[in-house]
Amino acid sequence: MSSLKLGDKAPNFDAETSEGKINFYDYLGDSWGILFSHPADYTPVCTTELGAAAKYKDEFEKRNVKVMALSVDGVESHKDWIKDINETQNTTVNFPIIADKDRKVSGLYDMIHPNADDTLTVRSVYVIDPNKKVRLMITYPASTGRNFKELLRVIDSLQLTENYKVATPADWKEGEDVVISTSISSEDAKSMFPKGFKEIKPYLRMTPQPNKKD
Ligand code: BEZ
Repeated sequence: MSSLKLGDKAPNFDAETSEGKINFYDYLGDSWGILFSHPADYTPVCTTELGAAAKYKDEFEKRNVKVMALSVDGVESHKDWIKDINETQNTTVNFPIIADKDRKVSGLYDMIHPNADDTLTVRSVYVIDPNKKVRLMITYPASTGRNFKELLRVIDSLQLTENYKVATPADWKEGEDVVISTSISSEDAKSMFPKGFKEIKPYLRMTPQPNKKD
């Protein structure tokens, strides 16, 4: 049983998928990754989720993110179900779905929560950075479909804060003001943030998003 934590190395694996046998690290290459599990094929919420993820293809590409889904059903089931997703969600599934019948990958990523369901995977999401570190983990119950815009928002925040000494406040969205890291003195902040900043409290200083295109 795994107990992955933020900052841990994301486990690598070989898996059968709807697009053939794939090595996870090879698939990711130098990209960011989203690995997400869903409880079962031919279920309504999952159908909408995979459709939603497919529709965000351009948004994932813009951010250099590769997507991979997983459930414990088999390859043939995935392939048939993808036809339904494409038809009902008006899209084309454009990422592989792992067929984790032996629960190997689910175990590595702790995607089965026995007190919720002892055989099916819950709705886990992992964001993995280009160094293969786990940067985000969220687990939703089977009855709640995920918010893929939220995943894009978190990836925007992770990619921004990789490059600037800032963090993003509650409900932040791309383009909005950010907070200056507490490790930066207000004296240093003057030169580091040429767009200026507002000191609300010594530990709470807001500045325009440094890489915002004006
Ligand atoms: C669904 O995707 O609709 C679903 C799957 C498992 C349990 C409940 C709902």
